[in-house]
Amino acid sequence: MFHRRQFLRAATGALAVTFAALTATAGFAQDAIKVGLIAPMTGPFAPNGKQMQTAAQLYMQEHGDTVAGHKIELIVKDDAGVPDNSKRLAQELVVNDGAKFLMGFGLTPIAMAVGPIATEAKVPAIITLAGTSIITEKSPYFVRTSFTLPQSSTIIADWAVQNGIKKVVTLVSDYAPGQDAEKAFVERFKAGGGETLESLRVPLANPDFAPFLQRAADQKPDALFIFVPASQGGVVMKQFVERGLDKSGIKLIGTGDFTDDDILNGMGDAALGAVTAHNYSAAHPSEMNQAFVKAFKAASGGGRPNFVGVHTYDGMHLVYAALEKTGGDTDGDKLIAAMKGMAWESPRGPISIDPETRDIIQNIYIREVKRGEDGELYNVEFATFENVKDPAKAAK
Ligand code: PHB
Repeated sequence: MFHRRQFLRAATGALAVTFAALTATAGFAQDAIKVGLIAPMTGPFAPNGKQMQTAAQLYMQEHGDTVAGHKIELIVKDDAGVPDNSKRLAQELVVNDGAKFLMGFGLTPIAMAVGPIATEAKVPAIITLAGTSIITEKSPYFVRTSFTLPQSSTIIADWAVQNGIKKVVTLVSDYAPGQDAEKAFVERFKAGGGETLESLRVPLANPDFAPFLQRAADQKPDALFIFVPASQGGVVMKQFVERGLDKSGIKLIGTGDFTDDDILNGMGDAALGAVTAHNYSAAHPSEMNQAFVKAFKAASGGGRPNFVGVHTYDGMHLVYAALEKTGGDTDGDKLIAAMKGMAWESPRGPISIDPETRDIIQNIYIREVKRGEDGELYNVEFATFENVKDPAKAAK
């Protein structure tokens, strides 16, 4: 009996010690500021998730994991590009993990699903890919480091007008950013005297572009304007070539999502000469970008960064800079106030957060696909439009 009681006492003591150790660990973990990155790590948009994760981790590697005396902990959650998953994961991140920032959102419907959670929890949600203009109006806690489709679509429309393109067919993914791109392009092209022969919309999921490409070619336009989300451009080009349309003389133009740097090399010679407007090229000649491309390739096992990576790298910068400004205070309203008007140099060039709209202000470049000296395909920038605000919001 005596022995048994002694044993029990010892066991209880051990349990108490274990519990103390556990709470000490929990205390430490609570001290870390958690950033929840919701990204498509699996499914058809997995290349975008990989860009996001690599870039966020690279930023932390380069800048350390402590800001204003607090450890930063990045939690990556795979939503497979499915909005219902993203919503559940966002909820878990803020409620269970106590995340103080949400980030990522690979598709517009995902950002839309997460918005109400950010609003309710008063947690900043940094959009690092979704590009539909209206998203930032859906929560006062949204801040965007990616882009809006009208930013690039209006600029490529002007370029088309100025370069003798008179008749265009547009082909976009049939969801909100595609509709934004189509509207911005068609209106601006028309205002400049151009004619859109037809506007085609292709389903987002498992798209078969071939019949749409054929229909576009049959109208014999001078150019085909294309918007597809990052990582789908390769399929468009493959089906374009399979139909022999690369020999049709139809010029390919679009937003730079189509000639995404991550997949551009796989498109082959058919991509040469495509002209797009966009915020980032791996060939952007700044010193900062050259260092970024080198570091990203080392971190990813050789793959090039594209705009998705750059947006996420900048998203992490925004987290760090906002926390520095608040002195480590994680109050959502203070963080959002700190982010408004923030300006810094990105691998894409100078950028800032519009204090009125929380949307990004950035340079948009016009680029042509060319083969570089290293044998790789690049979007080579040849004209710059500085400090472009979202034209859809400016028009309101
Ligand atoms: C979007 O869903 O808003 C989206 C996704 C990928 C892009 C552009 C827009 O490249």
